[in-house]
Amino acid sequence: MTLKFSLAQAAPETVDSPCIIVGLYEDRVLTSAAARLDEATGGGIKRLVASGDITGKAGSTTLLFNLSGVTAARVLVVGLGDSKKFDAAAFHRAANESARALKGLPVASATSWLTEVDVPGRDAAWKLRTAALAADLQAYRYTATFKPKDNARAVHLESIAFAGDGQDRALVEADAIAGGVRFARELGNLPPNICNPAWIAAQAKTFADAHDGVSCEVLERDDMQALGMGSLLGVAQGSANPPKLAVLQWNGAGNGVKPYALVGKGITFDTGGISIKPSAGMEEMKFDMCGAAGVLGAFVAAVELRLPINLVCVVAAVENMPDGNSYRPSDVLTSMSGLTIEVLNTDAEGRLILCDALTYVQKFEPQVIIDAATLTGACVVALGKHASGLMTKDDELADQLLAAGNATHDRAWRLPLWDDYQGQLDSGFADVANIGGKYAGAITAGCFLARFTNGYRWAHLDVAGTAWDEGRKGLATGRPVPLLVQYLIDRSA
Ligand code: BES
Ligand code: MN
Ligand code: ZN
Repeated sequence: MTLKFSLAQAAPETVDSPCIIVGLYEDRVLTSAAARLDEATGGGIKRLVASGDITGKAGSTTLLFNLSGVTAARVLVVGLGDSKKFDAAAFHRAANESARALKGLPVASATSWLTEVDVPGRDAAWKLRTAALAADLQAYRYTATFKPKDNARAVHLESIAFAGDGQDRALVEADAIAGGVRFARELGNLPPNICNPAWIAAQAKTFADAHDGVSCEVLERDDMQALGMGSLLGVAQGSANPPKLAVLQWNGAGNGVKPYALVGKGITFDTGGISIKPSAGMEEMKFDMCGAAGVLGAFVAAVELRLPINLVCVVAAVENMPDGNSYRPSDVLTSMSGLTIEVLNTDAEGRLILCDALTYVQKFEPQVIIDAATLTGACVVALGKHASGLMTKDDELADQLLAAGNATHDRAWRLPLWDDYQGQLDSGFADVANIGGKYAGAITAGCFLARFTNGYRWAHLDVAGTAWDEGRKGLATGRPVPLLVQYLIDRSA
């Protein structure tokens, strides 16, 4: 369950809430909420600043209890840093740090005045959406396969109110995005023995059954054989878990309007296959279905918002395993498009399932196709954990996607998709090879996909670095759900 969001109109000193959140700048400038508390407490805030107990240092949080003259039992003061340098990134940080502090407290609800501070270039809706999404992101906890022993770390927070007037639409959007993000995170975090291709397909079906106007079709191995999806099936053939292709449709714009299409890489576990990966860190490859989770999460949010667009979401769910029946390096696969592919590395499997999904989705005559995939380690080397890699030949589509990412702090960075790179994919035995050598690995992967999307407005998001936090306790982030949903909201306007 996501947090419940609402708007607060009461004054900070008199609001009846177990915890209120106010911002404080570093240079002793009080935000207007902090100034009101200062007045109500007879100078209490300024005294704490003078004594050095609260500093306003960017990202810091201090909890004050039972201030006389203030109704709320707790005041969480969040540092905003230098008032002259305060910007969108600083707001984002303050929103996340205050939410992180909040989730450790024994309170079920809170009220935040963070949203009243001015952020250059950003409007009230942006502030609300950013604060609400940060709160929900921090409040999420994974509990599907264990009972957290540490009761002190349980999250009690159920609802949060934000200072703001007439911003109901922003909260509705934030709520839908948060729901999509949670959907994606939960799928990503589940272990691959549970979240296998059949599980992903079942999630899609369950969602469709529970929502009016949503249809779902799941293609089985036989169906894929009949369609000639030799590339996807090549990857799938080494796994005991049969592949599934889930197709969700939302008809928010009525018949005859071309849909937007989302396509996701759903490798439920990527061992590398016969080109097997090293064991260290291989457990992170349970997240190799995060592209699929991301497009499903975006679809869920779009339906929740009942966006007036037509949307089709295709998820290719496959496991990549070494086995006596596995595909091998030097195999030549025939894709649904008719192009033949020489497999030079069975670990470059994502593009092999995506190419058939991208060909399949064209039967819906989409006006735009966007795929999301944890496609290459090279993208993580290039951009790290902060930006998703965006590749498209369409400048307008690129600008729209980059803008949506900036608006939701789910940022992408464009890499070139020039045909100059295509030569790296030449093969002496097939139309194309599935790897492009050691240089520009993220781009050559994009170039491979480009060969299957000719004539369409298409963009590729490589979310290998952004879809989860690395390390043993790293969780799925839900990216690129915010970017995709914002893009679709913008198209609905
Ligand atoms: N799922 C991986 C990409 C990946 C690696 C994502 C590490 C996140 C972290 C993908 O299937 C893969 O193995 N790609 C190979 C491609 C190579 C064989 C051309 C890679 O990036 O090493
Ligand atoms: Mn791989
Ligand atoms: Zn992979």
